[in-house]
Amino acid sequence: MLQIENLSVRLGRRPILQDVSLTTRAGEVLAVCGANGAGKSTLLKAVLQEHPAQGTIRLNGRDLASCRPHTLAALRAVVPQDTEIAFGFTLGEIVAMGRQAGSAAHETEIDALALAAVGLQGREGEDVRTLSGGERQRGHLARALAQVWHPVGPEGPCWLMLDEPVSSLDLGQQLKVMQLARGFADAGGGVIAVMHDLNLSAMFADRLAFLVDGHLAALGPPDSVLQEPLLSRAYDCHVALNRLPATGPWLLPQTCTLRGD
Ligand SMILES: Nc1ncnc2c1ncn2[C@@H]1O[C@H](COP(=O)(O)OP(=O)(O)O)[C@@H](O)[C@H]1O
Ligand SMILES: [Mg+2]
Repeated sequence: MLQIENLSVRLGRRPILQDVSLTTRAGEVLAVCGANGAGKSTLLKAVLQEHPAQGTIRLNGRDLASCRPHTLAALRAVVPQDTEIAFGFTLGEIVAMGRQAGSAAHETEIDALALAAVGLQGREGEDVRTLSGGERQRGHLARALAQVWHPVGPEGPCWLMLDEPVSSLDLGQQLKVMQLARGFADAGGGVIAVMHDLNLSAMFADRLAFLVDGHLAALGPPDSVLQEPLLSRAYDCHVALNRLPATGPWLLPQTCTLRGD
């Protein structure tokens, strides 16, 4: 279980996150949504202890502030929003770094399996700087998967923390990555994914946490969170939602209008 209680983050003089409390359980995919600058990455970074924060964060019952780095590395793996790498590592080296930080460090066969899981089998010798943006993003996901290859490890459920994991991906790859996230949760792990695509969030996430200006404006199943007034306010346009019986709410830019149009 990941428990976030009264989390507040100030960066410079500005309050970026204010009094955010939420709990997510293993087995769940939680999508974190909201407009540009709402505080989604800041929330993830606070959980990763990359930002100083007020409040309490517990992972599998342990206070994160008192966890050692190697314990944390075996419990959660991260794909950041910015996946550019300045050095000429090969894809195989990047994935091995993930695996070696995790709880199955000696299971070298994981590297090839993780690359195959994201459709990059046979590409381990390539310099990551030569990959396309989408391939690089999937390479980072392979690294993260290799780190938490067993969704339930010796320290309990493991967590994938993904910041916009499908932002550079084509339609098919988006579906495959969301399916991987879903499968990880179904196998007993936990997933937090920052998402801009509300349709994919509604299809694959159990619940959405919707941030507006650093506040948690809504938390719950897609049907309850994806409501026209909230979305229209958050995105500063008139949002018109549709609904499918199987997958719930969906929208297209074509069904939304900018204010004043
Ligand atoms: N290191 C920082 N120093 C000062 N302000 C920051 C820093 N990181 C993020 N911010 C600000 O916090 C706000 C939220 O950023 P972020 O969490 O990255 O938004 P998003 O929801 O788009 O991921 C933005 O306005 C951004 O400028
Ligand atoms: Mg962000």
